[in-house]
Amino acid sequence: MCAIEIQPVVTTERLVLRRPRLSDAKRIAELANDHDVARMMSSMPWPYGLSDAEAFLAAQDDKPGCDFVIEHPAEGMVGVAGFKFDALGRPELGYWLGRPYWGHGFATEAARGALVWAAKDWRKRAIIARHFTDNPASGEVLCKAGFLYTGEVTLTPSPARPEPAPCRTMVWLA
Ligand SMILES: CC(C)(COP(=O)(O)OP(=O)(O)OC[C@H]1O[C@@H](n2cnc3c(N)ncnc32)[C@H](O)[C@@H]1OP(=O)(O)O)[C@@H](O)C(=O)NCCC(=O)NCCS
Repeated sequence: MCAIEIQPVVTTERLVLRRPRLSDAKRIAELANDHDVARMMSSMPWPYGLSDAEAFLAAQDDKPGCDFVIEHPAEGMVGVAGFKFDALGRPELGYWLGRPYWGHGFATEAARGALVWAAKDWRKRAIIARHFTDNPASGEVLCKAGFLYTGEVTLTPSPARPEPAPCRTMVWLA
């Protein structure tokens, strides 16, 4: 569950990051049921149905870390960003945007906002992130948000890929 604040809200120049609500299920399922989104994620179900969105939302209260819905004032929900703990207990940032919203700088803006929250309110000093090597756009997002490559590359499965693929680890220090 979200430490420190029960319902944190992060406001950036164009976006609002807020806690997910049960009423987000339909929109999440619509945007997430896209193979080009799911194959870049290591733990997103594929195919992604309404029941997957409902399970994601139902798990929120008991989840370590914190997820945010990324909202645009005119467009509504455009994606999700969140922190979980990796196998080594390190806080890890992940995110995805619905395809209509790619290419506007939203992921970079949301990642920067989420990192400010993680450092200031969640009091984390180091955050990791990982991207598949065939996802240079996410590498760009992470570099622009201030992450650096650690040199660690791990073969990582994704439900939307036939076999594990190499993933690069990055780190951000507050
Ligand atoms: C990756 C993703 C989050 C990017 O979102 P976005 O809002 O379009 O990202 P931004 O606009 O903030 O930044 C993308 C950057 O990557 C660059 N880029 C895009 N495609 C690229 C490519 N094939 N090679 C190199 N750079 C690329 C863009 O030019 C941009 O950089 P710039 O601002 O310097 O021009 C989005 O495409 C997405 O959700 N994809 C599916 C899920 C995913 O990959 N999640 C991340 C898992 S690690």
